[in-house]
Parts: sequence; structure tokens; C-alpha cells
Amino acid sequence: MDSARKFSRVTIFLHWIVGLTIIGLTCLGLYMKNFEVFALYPIHKSIGVLIAIFVLLRAWWRFINGWPTPVRQYPKIEQFMAHMTHWVLIIGSILMPVSGFMLSSFSGHGVSMFGWELVAGQHAANGEAIPYNEFLSQVGDITHTSVGYVLVIAISLHILGAVKHHFLDRDLTLLRMLGRG
Ligand code: HEM
Ligand code: HEM
Repeated sequence: MDSARKFSRVTIFLHWIVGLTIIGLTCLGLYMKNFEVFALYPIHKSIGVLIAIFVLLRAWWRFINGWPTPVRQYPKIEQFMAHMTHWVLIIGSILMPVSGFMLSSFSGHGVSMFGWELVAGQHAANGEAIPYNEFLSQVGDITHTSVGYVLVIAISLHILGAVKHHFLDRDLTLLRMLGRG
């Protein structure tokens, strides 16, 4: 279990596997969409579906373990900001795979994980995707884009916070998450 001095290996493993993958998928998603690199879509979807398993495990682990105790007493406003950011990160990391799955499956493009078909695509003779449900596909699309941008802001604030704790406050916050508390 986590304590004020030390995090369990499970917490550390789940934080970094989910955190680094989400940063990677966010950059990949923005790049492939804005530069229309369609060849990257299958790999984005495959990693996105796979990481969803770890995202859910992580949310469950946080739920049964409670939130981490701060390494020392910070000003109340700072604690509040950090806590809010953690909530946005956890909820955002659940909404991203769910909305991605919705947009890809309901739009008729289909979803595969490393070649294993999870939802079949539906295509017209000219190769264009035929939506199963246009409305749900739009809901997925709007959610994926907007939560994606919210995550970019939350992740930036989160990293700035970690850097501040380490270099300005010189406390154990970052080292504890690196397993060296
Ligand atoms: C290079 C990137 C990152 C760094 C340096 C970093 C660093 C940290 C640190 C030092 C903590 C401990 C805070 C504390 O003790 O109060 C933490 C906690 C947390 N981080 Fe990150 N993080 C990064 C990326 C991410 C990303 C992308 C996510 C999004 C899913 C994330 C989600 C969380 C959450 C939810 C917590 C709360 C504690 C927990 O649930 O384990 N982090 N992070
Ligand atoms: C944690 C997991 C995920 C993250 C962080 C993520 C992130 C992103 C981001 C930031 C974009 C660019 C959005 C935009 O500019 O509008 C994007 C696009 C996209 N993502 Fe994800 N994604 C994840 C999971 C998934 C999953 C599981 C799927 C499907 C099974 C998926 C399918 C797509 C598709 C199809 C696009 C392109 C949308 C379009 O062209 O309009 N994503 N993703």
C-alpha cells in the first residue's frame, strides 16, 4: 500500500505505463489527424484499446487504495489544484479510449487490435465507410477531440507541478513516484 514516504510498485508501474502511453497516444492522435496520416490509425487504435485495460486497473487501484498522502503540508490551494488535476487525468484517461472506440466503431471504420478484429467495418463499393450510427459516432468524435485538448492542458499543468516540486520546493514528490522516495 502507498504511504507518505513510499509508493507501492503497483502504483508506480500503473502510473508510468498509463502516463507515458497516454502522452504518446495524444501526440500520435494529433499528428495523424492534422497531417492526415491514415496509415497510423490502426496502430493508434490498437495501443488505445490495449492501454484501456491498464487505465481501468489503475482507476480501480486508486479507488481501493485512496489518494496519495502529500509528502509534506503544502498550501491548501496547491493541494486542491493537484487533486483536481489528478481527477481530470483519471477521468480523461477513461473517456479517451471509450470515445475513440465509439467513434471508430459507430462510424463504420471498424476497430482491430494488432490485426485481431473487434468491430467489423462497413464499407460501400467505393471504399467509403458507412456509419452504423451517425449520431453516436459524432458524440464519440466530439468527446475524443475535446477531452483530448483538456488532457493536453491537464498533463502540462501536472508536469509543471512535478517539476516545481522537484526543482523549486526540492521535496520528495517526484522521487516517490520514481520509486526512490
Ligand atoms: C512525464 C510525465 C509525468 C510526470 C513527471 C508525472 C509525475 C507525477 C508525480 C510526481 C506524481 C505524484 C504526485 C503526488 O505525490 O501527489 C503523479 C501522480 C499522478 N499522475 Fe503523473 N506524471 C506524468 C504523467 C502523467 C500522465 C500523462 C497522467 C495521465 C493519466 C498522470 C496521472 C497521474 C495521476 C492520476 C496521479 C495521482 C496519483 C496516482 O493516481 O497514482 N501522470 N504524477
Ligand atoms: C488513452 C487512449 C487514447 C488517447 C489519449 C487518444 C488521443 C487522441 C487524440 C489527441 C486524437 C486527435 C484528436 C483531434 O485532433 O481531433 C485522436 C484521434 C483519433 N483517435 Fe484516439 N486516443 C486514444 C484511444 C483511441 C482508441 C481506443 C481509438 C479507437 C479504437 C481511437 C481512435 C482515434 C481516431 C479514429 C482518431 C482520428 C479521429 C479523426 O480523424 O477525426 N483513439 N486520439
